Amino acid sequence: MKAIILKDFGTVDNLQPADIPLPIIKDEDVLIQVKAFSINPIDVKTRAGKGVAVRLKEFSPMILGWDIAGVITATGKSVTNFKQGDAVFGMINFPGIASAYSEYVSAPATHIAIKPKNISFEEAAASTLAALTAWEAVVDVLKIQKGDRLLVHAAAGGVGHFAVQIAKYFGAYVIGTTSATNKTFVLGIGADEHIDYHTQPLDKATGNIDKVLDTIGGNNIDQSLKVMRKGGIIVSIPSGRNEEVAAKAEAAGMFGYRMLVQSSGENQQQIAKLIETGFIKPHISKIYSFDQIQEAHLQIESGRTVGKIVVQV
Ligand SMILES: NC(=O)c1ccc[n+]([C@@H]2O[C@H](COP(=O)([O-])OP(=O)(O)OC[C@H]3O[C@@H](n4cnc5c(N)ncnc54)[C@H](OP(=O)(O)O)[C@@H]3O)[C@@H](O)[C@H]2O)c1
Repeated sequence: MKAIILKDFGTVDNLQPADIPLPIIKDEDVLIQVKAFSINPIDVKTRAGKGVAVRLKEFSPMILGWDIAGVITATGKSVTNFKQGDAVFGMINFPGIASAYSEYVSAPATHIAIKPKNISFEEAAASTLAALTAWEAVVDVLKIQKGDRLLVHAAAGGVGHFAVQIAKYFGAYVIGTTSATNKTFVLGIGADEHIDYHTQPLDKATGNIDKVLDTIGGNNIDQSLKVMRKGGIIVSIPSGRNEEVAAKAEAAGMFGYRMLVQSSGENQQQIAKLIETGFIKPHISKIYSFDQIQEAHLQIESGRTVGKIVVQV
């Protein structure tokens, strides 16, 4: 089968097409013919030797990627809830090895959900790691409530655009930061207010914030704490830039958490429900072909991606 091998950690030149044997599935796994996969900043960081590279070193040369949508072609002996022919999507085995940049992947049945019928395979692949992160941050950590004033940083990005929509579904009042170019996009997906982080200092633009989703880290955490109410909660997700969030929040009379998204078929199912009922919609800004993998990585590396990008297999 076709796959993209990462020969060694480094530049995009190390991502090369290859022909490799089909994966072998275990009893609790399914074999999925991949129709589309998506790429996240963690793919790019790991490719460069950061991110989760340390955990994956033993697999080098490896196949990167976690986010897939496709069709089940075989099921392991213990799998009872999926069958051959099911269209599924999910974030496989994160933060371990998943080898998603391939024509076929082996996936634990507990990491996937049935693909909503009202979206394409490309849109489904886009609604995995980023959507699960938004769900786990907004629902599990921030415990969003009706009427909460939620500040979402990088609201136009992969995680941000799902977080805005999920929080709106739960009845929060959502304020999103983006550059001026993405104002219309963020208001269009349901944000109540927009802040242009290039021109509007946060403490002049807003206040009395109950909850914050920080996707930037560093000084953005300090700036966010200044606009939060006492007892407010901030969750920060960019690892390597958020180690001090709990201590800083505590010193300010607030609560700070870090989190790392987990593969979860159950949470993926929650995302599927919200997509099916039309409450959330993935936004894809560009679809790449399998042999444009290097270009796709460079797009994510630019830090300017709106919504998600995906690769068709
Ligand atoms: N801990 C976890 O489990 C976890 C999971 C997922 C992601 N992450 C991390 O979270 C971060 C965001 O992920 P993502 O997938 O959403 O990234 P992304 O899709 O690549 O984010 C791109 C967006 O970021 C915006 N942006 C860039 N700098 C900004 C700033 N200073 N203020 C506001 N917006 C800014 C850009 O909008 P403009 O062009 O308008 O600036 C762009 O739309 C990454 O560091 C990623 O590694 C962590």
